[in-house]
Amino acid sequence: MRRPLVAGNWKMHGTRASVAELINGLRQQVLPADVEIAVFPSCLHIAQVLQGVAGQVVAVGGQNCAVDPGQGALTGEVAASQLQDAGCALVLVGHSERRLLLGETDAEVVCKFAAAQSCGLTPLLCVGETLEQREAGKTLEVVGAQLASVVSALGIEVFTRAVVAYEPVWAIGSGLTASPEQAQQVHAAIRAQLAGHSVEVACAVRILYGGSVKAANAAELFGMPDIDGGLVGGASLNADEFGAICRAAGN
Ligand code: 13P
Repeated sequence: MRRPLVAGNWKMHGTRASVAELINGLRQQVLPADVEIAVFPSCLHIAQVLQGVAGQVVAVGGQNCAVDPGQGALTGEVAASQLQDAGCALVLVGHSERRLLLGETDAEVVCKFAAAQSCGLTPLLCVGETLEQREAGKTLEVVGAQLASVVSALGIEVFTRAVVAYEPVWAIGSGLTASPEQAQQVHAAIRAQLAGHSVEVACAVRILYGGSVKAANAAELFGMPDIDGGLVGGASLNADEFGAICRAAGN
């Protein structure tokens, strides 16, 4: 059985005061013991969150890491080794906002994925199609290519220590959610693609859905056979809403 994972991507949100308030709210939630929970604050707030959630079952991750794992002369970037040193357990790689707005390439995503694992961090690989690509019938082709770039460069075994998140770009921050059936179709295709390399790895890997997940739609999404939890943006900034989404992933 795959243990569900609910992850909150706080993106470029938060001040010391609002983060303190959010942590406080999270501490008051009844969180299900059978669900793994993680939050991804901005780098500035990682230490504050780690201190605030100490003793809670919440892991903390970075939203991005540099292509090279070690420290170096690369102004503005954060190395996977620094995230690990700061106490992070995970890191997002290939989020669509970075791919589309900052021009991150598949090749860079592969390097970041490898950098994360080399430092003992679990990469959470984000894949997903734009509305234009979906309307052109290219969803599985686009998602398949994003996934294939990692498999062909690093091999299938790396997915024993990674998580995949399917995030249709058109559903991110738009209030539009993929229907459970639409999401399930892509999740099943991702798992089938991985199964083409190793059935064992494919069966064990967690595939999260992201894109306007909220308390009101979480249970039906998480009820689908290949959806193993969620990567939550906007709704993760509200502790009550995020707590309810975490509970929806439990049994
Ligand atoms: P929203 O939940 O705000 O749509 O964001 C999803 C997302 O991008 C999580 O990484």
